Amino acid sequence: MHESMHKKQPQNLEQIVSLAKRRGFIYQSSEIYGGISGMWDYGPYGMTLKENIKRLWWSRFVEQREDMYGLDAAVIMHPKVWEASGHVEGFADPLVECQKCKRQFRADQTDEVCSECGGKLGNAEPFNMMFATHVGARADSSSLAYLRPETAQGIFVNFKNIIDSFHPKLPFGIAQMGKAFRNEIAPRDFLFRAREFEQMEAEYFVRPENWEERFTLWRETMEKFLHDDLGLARDRVHALEVPERDRAHYSRRTIDFEFDYPFGAKELCGLAYRTDYDLTRHAALSGADLTFLDQDSGKRLIPHVIEPSFGVDRLVLAVLTSAYREDEMDGERRVYLALSPEVAPIRAAVFPLLKNKPELVARAREIYRVLRKDIPRVAFDDNGNIGKRYRRQDEIGTPWCVTVDFDTLADDTVTIRDRDTGTQERTAVGEIRRRL
Ligand code: GAP
Repeated sequence: MHESMHKKQPQNLEQIVSLAKRRGFIYQSSEIYGGISGMWDYGPYGMTLKENIKRLWWSRFVEQREDMYGLDAAVIMHPKVWEASGHVEGFADPLVECQKCKRQFRADQTDEVCSECGGKLGNAEPFNMMFATHVGARADSSSLAYLRPETAQGIFVNFKNIIDSFHPKLPFGIAQMGKAFRNEIAPRDFLFRAREFEQMEAEYFVRPENWEERFTLWRETMEKFLHDDLGLARDRVHALEVPERDRAHYSRRTIDFEFDYPFGAKELCGLAYRTDYDLTRHAALSGADLTFLDQDSGKRLIPHVIEPSFGVDRLVLAVLTSAYREDEMDGERRVYLALSPEVAPIRAAVFPLLKNKPELVARAREIYRVLRKDIPRVAFDDNGNIGKRYRRQDEIGTPWCVTVDFDTLADDTVTIRDRDTGTQERTAVGEIRRRL
């Protein structure tokens, strides 16, 4: 991707939040009521950007492979799932309360005195982050259920269904994308720590002796996805070996991929070796036979698991941060998003040079109608003058603008403008498709 020294990286998160709101990517949830902490709504461009990220993930992690099965499990599962997984017992952050103003904080993110009023903080108590709800009309302990805090468990509880329906051989995996919910004590940093978010996870089942080899292969796949598919700058992503004391209870090895967000290097996604922890626990609590007959060895075993896990919203924020640029064009300060064509909400926009010339508008509409049949996410735009349209498309990251002018009517050529350089090239109408 075209880079140069005068193109600035974002100084702070506010620039991204402001662009995201102004241009219809991401809004605060329930904003007209003052918002609700930790929840975000995706507008037209944001939801398309997010869908593009999910589509690229699904393509690389499921569709382009023969050893992966897709799944879309329910958000609310049997409460015993969360007993077996360890979430009922241990999915807690330490909570402290100010004895003076009663504000609550995460104990590991605050000092000894309240950052709001200077009051003394009480003792840290574990706070379980699962959102509880009730299933059915009776609201008592018999109907208690949880919104899933990770998509992974939907996969483990369907392990037997998938092997009974599809008879896969080891190694194979099951993948799912979907919402997850965590009642975070301190949601912060825009999409980074939310209470409702999306995950894309794969559980890959292997023979125990093969875990290291498969771990390495999944690490490579994750890196390809982050850099080749999403276009994240290589020097902004760092792989971090997580020491034993910081690993989740189920993990014998974890690599976190951190991204340099405007608020610091923070976890983007992770790769964990979950051993046979989950299947063994579910087998014990449910009584189901979750062993697998390995046809090659003739032995029954509980497979071990490698788990690549992504938070979609953290990827959205990383993609926006990585793509954000400021420069000067035609003597004016410009903000643009250097998104790849695969990720950009609009791949190409078609304009008539002037919107009050019916013959230009008609020809531009014709070209737009033909292009949209073959090219994904083509838009038509005749709002405001041409300079404003370029700026708007730059800000939402549209890689190409196709402009229909008077020459088009004479010789059937258009200009194609490149977002990053602003250069325009005349191209025959029949050639546009090949260029985008
Ligand atoms: N199944 C493993 C698991 O859930 P995790 O590290 O707790 O592991 C996986 O979460 C990913 O989900 C994280 O790497 C992150 O991208 C995303 N994630 C976790 N909590 C989040 C939150 N509060 N807001 C946004 N994304 C979150």
